[in-house]
Amino acid sequence: GLVRKPANFVCSISDDRGAEPTYAGVPISEIAKDEELGIGGAISLLWFRKRLPRYVSKFIELCVVATADHGPCVSGAHNTIVAARAGKDLVSSLISGLATIGPRFGGALDDAARMFAAALDGNLTAAAFVEKCKQDKTVIMGIGHRVKSLDNPDARVVLIKEYAKAHFPATPLLDFALAVEQITTRKKANLILNVDGCIAVCFVDLLRGCGAFTRSEADELVSNGVLNGLFVSSRTIGLVGHFLDQRRLKQPLYRHPYDDVTYLTDG
Ligand code: ACO
Ligand code: LMR
Repeated sequence: GLVRKPANFVCSISDDRGAEPTYAGVPISEIAKDEELGIGGAISLLWFRKRLPRYVSKFIELCVVATADHGPCVSGAHNTIVAARAGKDLVSSLISGLATIGPRFGGALDDAARMFAAALDGNLTAAAFVEKCKQDKTVIMGIGHRVKSLDNPDARVVLIKEYAKAHFPATPLLDFALAVEQITTRKKANLILNVDGCIAVCFVDLLRGCGAFTRSEADELVSNGVLNGLFVSSRTIGLVGHFLDQRRLKQPLYRHPYDDVTYLTDG
């Protein structure tokens, strides 16, 4: 009989072999028609292979809107702008910006989720968690911001917290993170729960509480990188915007001014 050639690839999220592509089995025409789905629903199908309740896809959309851009001065936009002004193409300029996303900027979500969840699951109090991080000389991922602080609160964090409080069945990890923030901001006003940290803890509450995943499935999603994936996807929108903006404004090659460098080369 026929011997089937072993496949090199496995795929469980999408299929384009039929008349129209499907995401987790749902044809795109249905996704486009269904007002309950939208971009948050498409993300749920492709990332979680599930159709999740509307309050979940609305939350995903809120995170996308809130973190799509944060002006030209942040690491990612800065790199994209410099690359665009050096005459690089869209993809290269985008990659240059995306490459800055990491443990200090925009890429703290998965580790924040992991650290806070481990502390809560281990029955640590917020104070014991902060003390342990201090003893271990570990930076608390999801805490701290360069310009946002108690005196200059981050509107994005407010929106995300309010949404979680209004729509999620429970927010134990958000509550824990807010208790941590109470302690860290006593040291310095900028040691707030930042947008990475807030999305991260809310997302854990969502994945664990929405009834669609077991606890281990929810934790595996985080350990596989879904939360940083959310920031990367969202910020891509803003970085493309910055590339187009530089092109539209016909900005010349950028060179950093000498007077903005402290030279340690003399003497
Ligand atoms: N946990 C514990 N202590 C911290 C943290 C933290 N997350 N962040 C700063 N500190 C402490 C520092 O150790 C330092 O203490 P010291 O004065 O006793 O030495 C003090 O606060 C000031 O630290 P700086 O490094 O000057 O803080 P800075 O404002 O430069 O850092 C940053 C901001 C990079 C965001 C930092 O807070 C951090 O690394 N946070 C964790 C990573 C993170 O969540 N990044 C995402 C930011 S949001 C975004 O990018 C969209
Ligand atoms: C961002 O969203 O880019 C930030 O919160 C980082 C920043 O410094 O504003």
